[in-house]
Amino acid sequence: MSIHSRTRRLSVPQLVAMKGRQKIVSLTAYTSHMARLMDPFVDFILIGDSTAMVGYGRTSTLDMSLAEIIAHTRAVVAGSRLACVIADMPFGSYQESPQQAYRNCAEVMARSGCDALKLEGGRALAPTVEFLVQRGIPVMAHIGLMPQYVNQMGGFKAQGLDDEAARKIEDDARAHLDAGAFSLLLEGVAQGLARRISDFSPMPTIGIGASPACDGQVLVTEDLLGLGGPQVPRFVKQYADAGALISQACERFAAEVRDGVFPEARHCYGMPQEG
Ligand code: KIV
Repeated sequence: MSIHSRTRRLSVPQLVAMKGRQKIVSLTAYTSHMARLMDPFVDFILIGDSTAMVGYGRTSTLDMSLAEIIAHTRAVVAGSRLACVIADMPFGSYQESPQQAYRNCAEVMARSGCDALKLEGGRALAPTVEFLVQRGIPVMAHIGLMPQYVNQMGGFKAQGLDDEAARKIEDDARAHLDAGAFSLLLEGVAQGLARRISDFSPMPTIGIGASPACDGQVLVTEDLLGLGGPQVPRFVKQYADAGALISQACERFAAEVRDGVFPEARHCYGMPQEG
């Protein structure tokens, strides 16, 4: 079953046109198999740098290389055919200068086949966003709680909690819109702020832990499936317990192998076995 009737991959302009008409749905993926499973149900698939944590077991998103993002994004593009595919630019790959950002963004787009890129940063990043947009790179700007700034924020905490901090995030949003970002990702901000930004933004806002006031929602798939480990954010609703399913399957397999019950082994790769 599918929630939409698309026959071709959703483009960035089509995603933008959904604002005010239909809520936008997104999940993260980093393998082709997962991309294939979610493709009929989401509007865009995000290859998030959260893969560093949920896929590789690292302690932050800072340790994600350009080569890793390219490899995972290629896998997601190969596994999907309907969803727009958006990749995260890794920490350190775009902050140095607009030129460095362009070089690395162009490499990710050219080698992975993705449709757009997501970059974290406030107003200071807006000139880079403008540089990229003017050169053909569609940018989703990630503001509010920015995991790549975890060391400055002192942890993964909600942002914009007082009036001044909220005004600063609104200002970041305006700067990115002026620079040409096609969408704003709002992470870890309160409903009032998400509502104000979504109201003035002509471009869709995508929320994560940012209330239903946004134009769409994204979740880290491992969190939704109960595979997120000990660091699952409090706002996440778990839709399945895939962890329990995987443990049960492993346990049954182990028990059958130990009991000598493994009939498939007799037909290994379709070859008749002796005995
Ligand atoms: O890396 C990530 O998964 C993200 C989230 C906002 C979805 O950026």
